[in-house]
Amino acid sequence: MDLTHAAKPRNILYFIFHSLPLALFAYVAYLAQPGSSVFSWHPPIMTLAFAVLMMEAICIFTHDLGLLPEKAKGWKVTAHWFLQSLGLFAAGFGFIAVYYNKDLFSKPHFVSWHAWIGLATIGMTILQVGMGLGTKHAYWYRYFIKPVRIKNSHLALGIVTLFLSCSSLILGSASAWFQRESNASFAYVFMAVCILVHWLAALNTLSTHKKRLLGKAGED
Ligand code: HEM
Repeated sequence: MDLTHAAKPRNILYFIFHSLPLALFAYVAYLAQPGSSVFSWHPPIMTLAFAVLMMEAICIFTHDLGLLPEKAKGWKVTAHWFLQSLGLFAAGFGFIAVYYNKDLFSKPHFVSWHAWIGLATIGMTILQVGMGLGTKHAYWYRYFIKPVRIKNSHLALGIVTLFLSCSSLILGSASAWFQRESNASFAYVFMAVCILVHWLAALNTLSTHKKRLLGKAGED
């Protein structure tokens, strides 16, 4: 059987998934010049946290996009929580930067869609990290709740978190700051890349765990 053609689309998507978010991060960092002001940390750190680190963390288990396809499940679990924790830590730093910056200039907090959806994204991410801990140790309380239910809930909330993260990034790129600093057409490129990468992550996660979600598999 000729596998060359079958492997091609997967390789292109794999390349897109792992390189475009890094390009977004580099572009936003170039615009913001981290360190030039308190605010300058917020856009690049948030892009790094949600479009790079958490995206890699989520897709580590997927068949087509995972960074460690040859490694055993234990390795993937460790890489997943490590990258996810790093992402949450970065997001906390990015949030403190924008919050403190508003205090510095006596500006009101949470007065835009981006701010509210962003807050919901951070809240949901914290909840997901808690759910992740519950999932990792689901075996401890298996007599009260089936581990597969906890795993499926973690996955379902993960998809909601992906939707929120994509919305926050898109709203960030629609902000007055981005529109002022960036070439207008790059805002559309930023949005398109965010949608593509989040969509790929959601689709691959759902298809990788399809059997478990439909109750047709053991507890993988
Ligand atoms: C998922 C990623 C992101 C999250 C969770 C997030 C979260 C937030 C939050 C909660 C605030 C409000 C802080 C306050 O009112 O005290 C905020 C403000 C802001 N963010 Fe983000 N952010 C993200 C990404 C971005 C990106 C990529 C940009 C720029 C390209 C950006 C630009 C801004 C700007 C300009 C403000 C101040 C104006 C406003 O409150 O709307 N953010 N962000």
